[in-house]
Amino acid sequence: MKIAVIGTGYVGLVTGTCFAETGNEVTCVDVDQSKVAKLSSGVITIYEPGLEKLFLRNQKEGRLNFTTSLEDGIAGAQIIFLALPTPPGEDGSADLKYILGVADDLGKLLKPTDYTVIIDKSTVPVGTADKVRNAILKSSSKVSPTGGDLEGAFDVVSNPEFLREGVAVDDFMKPDRVVIGTSSERAKKLVNDLYVPFVRQGNPILFMDEKSAELTKYAANAFLATKITFMNEIAQLCERLGADVDMVRKGIGSDERIGKRFLFPGIGYGGSCFPKDVQALARSAEEAGYDFSILRSVMDVNEKQKLHLIPKIKAYFNNDLQGRKIALWGLSFKPNTDDIREAPALSIIDSLLAAGASVSAYDPEAMANVKAILGDNIRFTERQYEALDGADALVIATEWSEFRTPDFGKMSTLLKNKVIFDGRNLFDLLKMEELGFHYVSVGRRPINP
Ligand SMILES: NC(=O)c1ccc[n+]([C@@H]2O[C@H](COP(=O)([O-])OP(=O)(O)OC[C@H]3O[C@@H](n4cnc5c(N)ncnc54)[C@H](O)[C@@H]3O)[C@@H](O)[C@H]2O)c1
Repeated sequence: MKIAVIGTGYVGLVTGTCFAETGNEVTCVDVDQSKVAKLSSGVITIYEPGLEKLFLRNQKEGRLNFTTSLEDGIAGAQIIFLALPTPPGEDGSADLKYILGVADDLGKLLKPTDYTVIIDKSTVPVGTADKVRNAILKSSSKVSPTGGDLEGAFDVVSNPEFLREGVAVDDFMKPDRVVIGTSSERAKKLVNDLYVPFVRQGNPILFMDEKSAELTKYAANAFLATKITFMNEIAQLCERLGADVDMVRKGIGSDERIGKRFLFPGIGYGGSCFPKDVQALARSAEEAGYDFSILRSVMDVNEKQKLHLIPKIKAYFNNDLQGRKIALWGLSFKPNTDDIREAPALSIIDSLLAAGASVSAYDPEAMANVKAILGDNIRFTERQYEALDGADALVIATEWSEFRTPDFGKMSTLLKNKVIFDGRNLFDLLKMEELGFHYVSVGRRPINP
């Protein structure tokens, strides 16, 4: 099938590459000229395990192309994916300017003689498929004096994306489920054919109406954000009551109605999706006259949780961080990605700098992205252990695998004080006690209270 993907960020690049991998002819379109130039010359623009190999292979086979021209990109395409940003607007609702802007352009470019399916892969509020459809019709009617030219020549489908950064290729190639929102039988058949190779193991393609599909994505992200936040509050309570969150987590996770996954407490969620999607769903509810109060609490608790370690760090240094040197391991909002959007590490850095401390940071993939925002305000080190040299304490903000079994001997030598504030509960409490570290984690009984 001939496919166009508009927007070549995380979702667009993974979507385009994976559809090329199953034999489709894909053209990815982006307005960012430097991104398109890099991709066209075989340079991948995001870090995502397994993606580069597929990207290079399909590009070499001529199945994966890149352009800045929407007109060239959609020429002959039977399916056009919209993988465009939907950032929060001023009131927290999803800003649809990118989506509707492209819909407007498509109205001028789509041909009444060819049937095209426009698929919304971005995370968008309920009713967006109708808005996209109307925007296309409206702009096509401006071009054609008779108006309504495109009526019947296209359908707009909602197909939210559930991939997780860090395991995006696996998630895309073997999705738990594919959600397709459409009321058109013609579109349903075409989209079904496109996805069949991805569900060979029997996972479902779920067909539903457009609005239910749009809400499904928000409901999924809001539920997961709530689950994490609930555990973070349990962790807070554990610290106050002397219970151990690891025990409680295991105790509740073995109940299959609750499940073991997504119960690990930490220093809050970040990323490009949960924060904005929770906010957008709360806003949609408000517009619909419903106060979704759980979501307001989730947002509030999560913001506080990002700074959970700060009072503990300050208390350890007698409320005086002036001139202290703090090492920081982990900058990305989660492991296996270079994405730093809403990363808790950034809030921690702001607080430490504001208190007069200096920060030397290491992250396997995300340092360039942080450097682009913070410049020389913090020091970046080439290697993991270099960050510790002469530091008063280490803070861990992201659970990269390489931080899980570090060389504690080396750490003891390099750190000025054997002090670790671990926002991701990576190490065993007893082991840390035996090694003589002052080790503070989240929701577990402190060893040296
Ligand atoms: N990142 C994720 O893990 C993830 C997962 C599921 C769903 N989503 C959703 O998918 C959507 C896209 O997210 P993303 O993370 O890929 O965003 P992104 O910011 O990484 O990429 C968006 C791309 O669109 C391009 N763009 C902007 N305007 C354009 C235009 N007019 N024409 C062509 N390209 C244009 C930008 O240059 C950018 O490259 C969002 O709605 C997001 O919520 C993201």
